[in-house]
Amino acid sequence: MKVSLVGLGKVGSAVAHAIVLKGLADELVLVSRRTEIAKSEADDLNHAAGLEEHSVDVRAGGDLDTADSDVILYCDASPAKSIDVDRYSAARDNLQRLHERIPTFAAGSPQAICVMVTNPVDVMTWFALQMSGFPQERVFGVGTLLDTARLRRLLSEKLSVHASDVRAYVIGEHGEDQVASFSTASLGGESMKPSEDLALLARQAAESAGKIYRTRGFTNYGIAGATMMILESIRNNRRRTAPVSMRINDYYGVKDVCLSLPAVIGRRGIERVLRPELNEAEQAAFHRGASRIREAIEVLTP
Ligand code: 2OP
Repeated sequence: MKVSLVGLGKVGSAVAHAIVLKGLADELVLVSRRTEIAKSEADDLNHAAGLEEHSVDVRAGGDLDTADSDVILYCDASPAKSIDVDRYSAARDNLQRLHERIPTFAAGSPQAICVMVTNPVDVMTWFALQMSGFPQERVFGVGTLLDTARLRRLLSEKLSVHASDVRAYVIGEHGEDQVASFSTASLGGESMKPSEDLALLARQAAESAGKIYRTRGFTNYGIAGATMMILESIRNNRRRTAPVSMRINDYYGVKDVCLSLPAVIGRRGIERVLRPELNEAEQAAFHRGASRIREAIEVLTP
């Protein structure tokens, strides 16, 4: 499997390293404007790859070298402008860069699955889908999978169980109006009814990126882990269920916008979309997220 990774900042580097350690590509092309750094990063990663059982061939390349990719991981972003997490602040710059490059990627790899790892992820996914001309099952964003991982981690600590046994999804906007859909959450078949305690954990999960930003100035390991879950499910056709940002086709009246819903991810991309039932408060938060994304799309549409 050929994977092209576009953008080698903190996120792109963490994603590349995880791919090498997990052996999730046969060929990994690192695309960065900083070509010398990309070459050195490829060398360094090949040294790490040499110590693993599986073989991953890492090389640096330009946009045209992504041709015939099976998966394109789009991590390119302009540097954060503030110490507080503001996923929308670099939207215009990030979109400009996407606009210049997506036609090349799409023409070179017409069958690829394109995974957006860049913020504002819901907005970027929307534009990548339009610009690529790809079917919607092959363009999606990491979305609220990361928020889901954060919430499951907090729940697993509170309930003293393994995080992967917690059946709870965060859906909607990857941002302030994300929705922890507790009305459908369960543990061992026992439902988890919405409560003050759970709402507090959901708030903590939603605020955790901000907390990390205020000290480190960026997050990268969590998002790299979420990207690995998606890549592994594609590569091994695992059909894992993960909330990812995708074009919504009429869910509680929301359509023509990208937001996260749980989806089955396999070798062909999104193989099925799940539509959990939401209570009224959850629906309202989902709608608020949809309005925010729609406004951002309108402002950014040339
Ligand atoms: C995160 O949630 C900043 O979107 C990034 O870690």
